[in-house]
Amino acid sequence: MIKKCLFPVAGYGTRFLPATKAMPKEMLPIVDKPLVQYGVEEAVEAGLTEIGFVTGRGKRAIEDHFDTNYELEHQIQGTGKEKLLGGIRELIERCTFSYTRQISIHGLGHAILTGRTLIGDEAFGVVLADDLCFGEGASVLAQMVKLHRQFRCSIVAIEEVPHTETHNYGIVVGEALSDSLFRVTDMVEKPAPDRAPSNLAIIGRYILTPDVFNILEQTPPGKNGEIQITDALLRQARDGCVIAYKFKGRRFDCGTLEGFVEATNYCYQRFHASDAGQRVVPMSRGAS
Ligand code: UTP
Repeated sequence: MIKKCLFPVAGYGTRFLPATKAMPKEMLPIVDKPLVQYGVEEAVEAGLTEIGFVTGRGKRAIEDHFDTNYELEHQIQGTGKEKLLGGIRELIERCTFSYTRQISIHGLGHAILTGRTLIGDEAFGVVLADDLCFGEGASVLAQMVKLHRQFRCSIVAIEEVPHTETHNYGIVVGEALSDSLFRVTDMVEKPAPDRAPSNLAIIGRYILTPDVFNILEQTPPGKNGEIQITDALLRQARDGCVIAYKFKGRRFDCGTLEGFVEATNYCYQRFHASDAGQRVVPMSRGAS
């Protein structure tokens, strides 16, 4: 059973400067909740309650978010605002949170390898919180955990992207097992559109088998001088051990301004528009 989920959150978030100069990209709110909380909620829905963060300098707000703030809680105790903390309180109760630091930023593969100390020798989930996913039926990670039970190998979530966008993604090709499943035979990191072997792009959800750590240790820096998870996955794929899954649901690339705004509008309409204006019922003047 998969219990652990790794959140690499050490990146600089340069596309969101200046907002991310002193604040982690993963703490940017989509309406009233930081991106990283959506990600943890998704992991918990999939049964992954041992949460590990690969953090970096300037990311301490993430640790504080997944901790109790006694002063604040005291301040709003007994007011209508208390319920606004219900979701995060529940996560804090249900999960354990562990942290390790990626001292120098050498890419996603390197961040995942840094997380080895939090994972050990078992299969685990990886969530890139700037990809915000809403699954149809079950959460995207829950859909993937189910597939891992069936195939017992690494699972990557994929989505068809416009051919002009392939240079932003790891791109896979594979043998089709069904409309939504492919046994991966090749993958390329961020190919130019004219070199992309398909338009099936890996998004920020993975289930990885622990042999990936030894592979990552031997993986030299690839594209952009970074250690790429795609290169390590390709090694697993050559042994027939990577399944690409066209997930059921919707994903927003909140690492871009456009995706971030789109996600904000979507979440406001879906979760907030109907009760706008009556969500907060202040009970005392001091706390309103
Ligand atoms: P991104 O490349 O999307 O994030 O990495 P970034 O580098 O922070 O963003 P930009 O491009 O500068 O705007 C995907 C995820 O992997 C993490 C990031 O924090 C992000 O959540 N990451 C990336 C690491 O933890 N370490 C790395 O070395 C690279």
